[in-house]
Amino acid sequence: MLKSVIAVTAGLVASADAFWRMECQGRVGLARMDPIVYPGSDSPHMHAIHGSSAFSETSGTSELVTGNCTSCRVTQDKSAYWHPALYFQDASTQEYELVPQVGGMLAYYLLYGNNIKAFPTNFRMVAGDTSRRNYTAGDPTQPDPPKSLWASLGQTSQEILAQRALGFNCLNYDKAPEGTLYRHFMPDKAYLDANCKDGIRFEIMFPSCWKGGDATDSPNHRDHVAYPDLVMTGDCPAGYPARLPSMLFEVIWNTNAFAGRNGQFVIANRDTTGYGLHGDFIMGWDEDFLQQAVNTCTNPSGLIEDCPLFDVVDQGTAMQCQLEDMPANLRKEDGNGPFKQLFGGMDGHGQSQPTSKPTKVSTAPTLPYQPGVTAPVKGSPLPGQVFKDGSSDGYSGGMQIAAVESSPAVTPAPVGAAATPVTFVSTQYITVGNVVSEILWKQAYTTVTVDAHPSTVTVTATGAPPAKHRRSVHGHGHGHSHSHGQGQGQL
Ligand SMILES: *[C@@H]1O[C@H](CO)[C@@H](O)[C@H](O)[C@H]1NC(C)=O
Ligand SMILES: *[C@@H]1O[C@H](CO)[C@@H](O)[C@H](O)[C@H]1NC(C)=O
Repeated sequence: MLKSVIAVTAGLVASADAFWRMECQGRVGLARMDPIVYPGSDSPHMHAIHGSSAFSETSGTSELVTGNCTSCRVTQDKSAYWHPALYFQDASTQEYELVPQVGGMLAYYLLYGNNIKAFPTNFRMVAGDTSRRNYTAGDPTQPDPPKSLWASLGQTSQEILAQRALGFNCLNYDKAPEGTLYRHFMPDKAYLDANCKDGIRFEIMFPSCWKGGDATDSPNHRDHVAYPDLVMTGDCPAGYPARLPSMLFEVIWNTNAFAGRNGQFVIANRDTTGYGLHGDFIMGWDEDFLQQAVNTCTNPSGLIEDCPLFDVVDQGTAMQCQLEDMPANLRKEDGNGPFKQLFGGMDGHGQSQPTSKPTKVSTAPTLPYQPGVTAPVKGSPLPGQVFKDGSSDGYSGGMQIAAVESSPAVTPAPVGAAATPVTFVSTQYITVGNVVSEILWKQAYTTVTVDAHPSTVTVTATGAPPAKHRRSVHGHGHGHSHSHGQGQGQL
């Protein structure tokens, strides 16, 4: 246990150096296409697709890079990013309507770990499992245990990590935001109506450990990659020696547009639980260029404008990009609704008839609101500000670039005030609009029982005093300090 905590903390010191936030405000299409899982045929459910205009039922890297445009704001990124659409099903008519997607999506390239390798040409992967309808990683009505305990609790299997890699963030910009990957199921409509006036943010964290070599894919599109033992950060399992950029999708759906109407939210794969949320990625960069970006785009702001390599277009340009081609049968399917049944058969092989029923309504577990962060850093926009700009309802404006926190505001620890050493056990990112705050999870000490011998773990990573950690994190330029669980008060 001691060993694993040290490894975690040491990993933190060496990691979380930089990231960029790929803004994909545009959706190139809403279509039953999935070149990874259903190459050459129709997908069984509707996807919201972002990225290269050359996306098709058969596109790989070599096709994507020929796209005339991308709905993301960096012209060199012709990758494909897609995820299932979210629908509202009206209880009285039983009809489905597309939930408005706010601001497209963000694809974070978090540069955790050392010696990060660019995604290789032809690389593709899937995060999440469309057929999952349960949660076997613990009690979903309780927050995850502190990450520092996952190893000792036996909670670092890939199956568990994959379920914790999904998040459903209840957005209410009047409150401090919830943490990323805090809740692992989709709250039901009553909860969303009552608590999440700014909608829900789907969060899909991808595995970042890689087999390496020519393993650009695997039969289930998952096994060539693996999660590090803390999902976003941590150590890679045996057999996955290489580290890729850690990718996180964030997609905001304006569920509040249906407030007051009787019905339920259904993900396009007929999932009402959220456990079947998933995301797909196909590499569409020039590999050498992406490696250069990984090596040099280390500005802590995360802004694509701050990477000198990127050619950045404005949001309007990105939003004009549309799929260049689509099979005729799919072109006829209007994904917006309202329609009586969701498009796609369960097997996805050529069925374009709306046939299938959603999963039965089940009572969603409840996990109450819990702020993931303390007061915003001085000078940063208030939560929600970026979405309230320029539109009366707070949504039509889509995403806008807001000022990123100018300076971290981690208050120095009162020297000698704490009897116990403080150490950060993990970092976490919280996004409000386009503003990202880094959260440092910390704990004074953790007492764990291993082999019936109680041991007090007092970790000081790589021999550095706590001040070193803060400085290290300072370097990222967007630090917040936050206390949680066993953590002590704010520094
Ligand atoms: C939970 O879901 C997984 C993945 O779909 C499945 O393999 C497993 O049998 C399910 N477990 C239970 C207890 O239903
Ligand atoms: C994309 O580019 C090709 C080749 O330049 C051109 O023929 C085609 O018309 C373009 N398609 C769209 C949709 O702009």
